[in-house]
Amino acid sequence: MALFTLEDVKFSSRGKEIIKGISLKIEPKTVTCLAGKSGCGKSTLLKLISGILVPSGGRVLYKKNDIQMMSNARNRVFRRECGFVFQDSALWSNQDIMQNLNLPLQTANPSMSLEKRMKRIHDVCALVKYERAMNLRPVDLSMGEQKKIAFARALINKPSVLFLDECTESLDRKSGAIIVDLIQDFIAKGNTVIYVSHSSNFVNAMGGSSLVIEEGLLSE
Ligand SMILES: Nc1ncnc2c1ncn2[C@@H]1O[C@H](COP(=O)(O)OP(=O)(O)OP(=O)(O)O)[C@@H](O)[C@H]1O
Ligand SMILES: [Mg+2]
Repeated sequence: MALFTLEDVKFSSRGKEIIKGISLKIEPKTVTCLAGKSGCGKSTLLKLISGILVPSGGRVLYKKNDIQMMSNARNRVFRRECGFVFQDSALWSNQDIMQNLNLPLQTANPSMSLEKRMKRIHDVCALVKYERAMNLRPVDLSMGEQKKIAFARALINKPSVLFLDECTESLDRKSGAIIVDLIQDFIAKGNTVIYVSHSSNFVNAMGGSSLVIEEGLLSE
């Protein structure tokens, strides 16, 4: 059974058709790269597959269920199973780093004890080697430090699917290599990765198959 199925998915915003009818399947335990020129619609497609954007036409299925029609309970499970790193990190600017990591954890696991949550937050920060204070706000961090926290947030609920939009952009070589190792480990455990990257080093390290987008359509 395909993990994600897109059926003639379209997306328009402010009178512009950005995704013009894309159908595809993503199998579990695979690595998929969305490639194409700047502005072709990669980030938009990543957000459509992950249910962050609502298609203006067609549908996106996760394990045969239309994401937009899921019950709240099923949607919660779907959200917990998927981690997302945004191209611009998109941390909550009015919350400190602790809250940026705690909010998605607590939302997905309302009954988890404070002690367990603090341990999980500490563990993901150690994984990405975030070593600064937890009471800083995103604006106090460099772009690269924000990317580390964005990646930690994507891992916080132990997902089985990672959506990564330029997840090593702004990172120095060493920090980038740490993230690549974490992703390779995630893939080796039989999880699924769908990513966008302009870095050929990153693409070579990830492997998997590529889908090329040209002006909102899959190119042949
Ligand atoms: N909400 C929106 N409303 C209007 N236009 C949008 C919206 N989101 C994206 N666009 C436009 O849609 C096009 C595709 O944007 P998208 O961010 O998906 O491109 P991309 O392939 O990720 O580019 P890059 O490689 O530069 O990140 C761009 O021309 C962008 O300006
Ligand atoms: Mg983009």
